Amino acid sequence: MPEARLKTGMEEFDRALGGGIVARSLILLGGDPGIGKSTLLMQALGALARLNERVLYISGEESPEQLKLRADRLGILADNFLVLAENRFETVLSHIDESQCSVVVVDSVQSIFSPSLDSAAGSVSQIRHVTAGILDVVKRGAAACFLVGHVTKDGVLAGPKVLEHMVDTVLSFEGERSHPYRILRASKNRFGSSSEIGVFEMGDRGLQEVANPSELFLSERPEGVSGSAVTALVEGTRPILAEIQALVTGPAPGQGRRTWLGVDSQRLALMIAVLEKKLGLALADQDIFLNAVGGVRASEPAADLAVAGALLSSFMDRVAGSRTVLFGEVGLAGEARRVSNAEGRIAEAARLGFTRIIAPKANVEAAAPGRGLKLVAITHIKELASLLFQEERGFASGAEAGPVTKRTQGEKKLEESAKPGTRLRVGPNIRELRKRKGLSLPKLAKLTGIAASNLSSLELNKSSPTLNTLVRIAAAFNMKLGAFLDEVVYEKAVVRRRGQGRKLKTNIPGHAVEILAGDEPHHTLEARLVTIRAPSKPLAIPSRETDLFVYCLEGELTVQIENSGYTLKAGDSLYLLASAVARFANSGTGAVRLLLFGAPLT
Ligand code: TYD
Ligand code: MG
Repeated sequence: MPEARLKTGMEEFDRALGGGIVARSLILLGGDPGIGKSTLLMQALGALARLNERVLYISGEESPEQLKLRADRLGILADNFLVLAENRFETVLSHIDESQCSVVVVDSVQSIFSPSLDSAAGSVSQIRHVTAGILDVVKRGAAACFLVGHVTKDGVLAGPKVLEHMVDTVLSFEGERSHPYRILRASKNRFGSSSEIGVFEMGDRGLQEVANPSELFLSERPEGVSGSAVTALVEGTRPILAEIQALVTGPAPGQGRRTWLGVDSQRLALMIAVLEKKLGLALADQDIFLNAVGGVRASEPAADLAVAGALLSSFMDRVAGSRTVLFGEVGLAGEARRVSNAEGRIAEAARLGFTRIIAPKANVEAAAPGRGLKLVAITHIKELASLLFQEERGFASGAEAGPVTKRTQGEKKLEESAKPGTRLRVGPNIRELRKRKGLSLPKLAKLTGIAASNLSSLELNKSSPTLNTLVRIAAAFNMKLGAFLDEVVYEKAVVRRRGQGRKLKTNIPGHAVEILAGDEPHHTLEARLVTIRAPSKPLAIPSRETDLFVYCLEGELTVQIENSGYTLKAGDSLYLLASAVARFANSGTGAVRLLLFGAPLT
């Protein structure tokens, strides 16, 4: 039976509720203090009052004068809009019961107090008691009730969390106080979808609805700047364009920091691993910041390509096409995978005047033609650079980086095997690594919290792992996620001819790094050949968890370790403790070539 819904006419508000307010429902609205919860609900009640609904606003936080001031500011004047300043629980209950209103607001649950309990106002037992009482009245009566709950970042007032399972619907009002944008989001909705969002902008006269969130989320987009990419998300049923910004800086001493906002951390970790493995980017010692701009959440896999694009753009310091939108999932082997709702995403991009879309081949092939924009198909992340930075082919940042489009036989084979539908060698890799770490299946099960039977079927390639599973296994092995992505060949001895090591692309001009050994997951030593082509400024060497041995093959190297400086020439060597913070500089006239030995970074 479909529930009768009362619409406020504030479309963004009704939408977040799944189409309006259901009678006799209890709705919790959580959010940081000062974010605009009271304003939002007062406006919603004001809108209902204008539609001749009788409504009641009970505030235990503000005086009648304050409430009136706000109502005036919001332009609310109506006889059927009742306002009550009250914080005594029993009085609040009787007002809800007897008011004959269709919608009631109680602002806030923390401010309502029952003397029948010993504990203080706002304590967990008080807010539980208050909520249970209101729930009872609401279910017996006719009114729907909104309950405001303040959330604090440090969780001191853990109240609203405690209440979530008691109420029918949980809404959160999100945003930053320094920014005018607010997003109303349902995290639980017994009466409808919990994936729709409502978008508002806080102004002098309250909250304005934002009917075109894409425009809002793109409004401050800098043009001609590296590290920015636009993606097309789907929130509920609505496509929304959003900007992803990345800042990749380094190298930093030690393992690079990762900071993110509005994206899924595990998907970010996967994108970093894929960029390292498939494009050879040296990201381990880079500080990486990633942000979905404007408070939007870009956690769906469809944002992968834009996340990768923003990272690549910042790392290479290349500007992505400003009229380009990217969407698509990126799989473990770097393959671009189709996503749902492509039509809606494409239409939204066209509506906002974008001219190019980079999307998985399967999505592009299925798309209807027209709309005056160019659909560019991508099958593998290796194509991303040449598609994104269209003007210049390839992305030779250092002179050592060849064009991306040139692929080796091995890479082609891997891409073939990684086409959606075919399985990767992830399972056997995990089995091999587990054995080398001397872990039994039950032990790994214990470490990861994944059932041994599931692990076993995964190892035998009978099932594909989820990203979450891989993250947990990688943590148990103390290894990077990327270690599972490549086909592992356990050769007893590896001979590499001159120039055959894996070349890392660095973003330091004149700096080349070739990994001679140690990039196989079972290697316990790592050797790198580092070339610093011309005299250079001192460069911080990432401190690691292990010591480092440096042998100078050629040139003159100055090493600054804390307050002492040393000069190394051909044949000299240096043993560096893990704890030492060091800076290297080419202090001679010609190139410096160094051999570095250490333990592989995990
Ligand atoms: P409020 O609704 O009181 O927040 P909450 O109930 O979540 O604690 O609103 C807080 C802020 O919003 C306050 O700093 C003032 C600002 N505001 C406006 O900018 N414009 C307005 O019209 C109103 C009513 C408030
Ligand atoms: Mg308030």
